[in-house]
Amino acid sequence: MSKESVAAVVLAAGRGTRMKSTLPKVLHPLAGRPMISHLLATVTELKAWPLVVVVAPGMDDVADSVAPVPVAVQERPLGTADAVKAARRILEKFTGDVLILFGDTPLVTVETMERLRAARRRSDDPAVVVLGMRPAGANEYGRLIGDDDGRLEAIVEWRDATAEQREVPLCNSGVMLVDGAMLFGLLDKVRNDNAKGEYYLTDIVEIARKEGRACAWVEGSETELLGINSRVELAAAEAVVQQQLRRRAMEGGVTMPMPESVHLSYDTQFGQDIVVGPFTVFGREVAVGDGVEIMGFCHFEQCRIEQGAVVGPFARLRPEAVIGEKAKIGNFVEVKKAVIESGAKVPHLTYIGDARVGAGANVGAGTITCNYDGFGKHFTDIGAGAFIGSNTSLVAPVKIGDGAVVGAGSTISEEVPADALVVERAKANVIPGWAAGRRTRKAAAPGASSKGKTSSNS
Ligand code: UD1
Ligand code: CA
Repeated sequence: MSKESVAAVVLAAGRGTRMKSTLPKVLHPLAGRPMISHLLATVTELKAWPLVVVVAPGMDDVADSVAPVPVAVQERPLGTADAVKAARRILEKFTGDVLILFGDTPLVTVETMERLRAARRRSDDPAVVVLGMRPAGANEYGRLIGDDDGRLEAIVEWRDATAEQREVPLCNSGVMLVDGAMLFGLLDKVRNDNAKGEYYLTDIVEIARKEGRACAWVEGSETELLGINSRVELAAAEAVVQQQLRRRAMEGGVTMPMPESVHLSYDTQFGQDIVVGPFTVFGREVAVGDGVEIMGFCHFEQCRIEQGAVVGPFARLRPEAVIGEKAKIGNFVEVKKAVIESGAKVPHLTYIGDARVGAGANVGAGTITCNYDGFGKHFTDIGAGAFIGSNTSLVAPVKIGDGAVVGAGSTISEEVPADALVVERAKANVIPGWAAGRRTRKAAAPGASSKGKTSSNS
């Protein structure tokens, strides 16, 4: 195998107890997908292969989530060196470089991974290149002990470090790149005579030095090397990812007057010349076409908004909502599993579920598709150019023909032919003078108050 090829091992066997969760730590989401998926996407960009994720026994949910990437099982949590050894069977014959990553440190960039690879090509042929960082605040990371020329002597775990070593600002991020031809030989020499009684991966630096090999480090930024151990750190990582996603969207042609209030998903797709107003949340699988205006305070999930449509404010688009070209969805409108065809308008206070709203149709305020009968969901078909009067209930399954008009306040449960008018409304009973008569009667009654009087006779 060529010296240029790279394999990757992602350690994820830790329990993540500080998350206080039944969900394994690496499956907690960032921007709508498990944190480990972010890392695996980056590793895929690097074209690292073989690629293996180390899990603990019973972590089938992690295995399912990372598939088709294979997993290796670390039988007992004996430390990071032992965890890498779990990947031995998959990597034994591999002689390229092995990149070791932590599933809970998912924001490492492909550029940084490439810098580690470049450092491995240095003239002193370092056997191990460690990714270091200089965190601003107090912390309990392992310390990199090296000289001024970037030669690494050892990594000392915080618990095992002397007071002097703890003063070293350069910390271990956990990420390292190792000469694959040596990796398992080094790991077999790691012992567990330390403060935690664990097999520390970090010990391979000192062992390689003893065998006459150089070791080195490169430095990465603190934000990209953020390790997630708690939900507070999860939120900090989410903030980093959101900022990256928003920047990418804006650079691609999306205007965000108040970007820090917009929440994106890793897979949000935008065209150009889009405006996203404040406080809008994009769940997974949302695609927004060119020229769309989103007026803020909206919530979207698994939906598509086509070219030139205007949505919101305060609109909710649920899975399988498709808003056609130049259609308009106004405030307090919820759309689920429905196609709003081009130019159709649903301007206010409406629920459209399991439906088609034909091109150019107009759906009045307060219209509800009664799609659920307590057992199943049924379809409402509104034809092109139809006009649905305000406060209409469409009891599905039901069809409104093209160009038909539904009178306001109707409850419609049978098919309305094209171009027909339908009104379902009790006839109004108008009694002239009745209100005035009542006022007179009330005023004459003993103990009458001024209640109910009109301003003209007071
Ligand atoms: C580790 C490093 C430390 C570094 C820090 C950065 C070691 C010995 N120490 O410490 O120098 O500053 O990360 O965040 O490597 N894991 C397993 N099996 C195990 C133990 C751990 O798979 O038996 C996995 C965990 O799931 C996690 C990663 O390895 O993804 C790191 O383990 P953790 O126990 O969190 O190491 P730290 O004490 O944080
Ligand atoms: Ca950790």
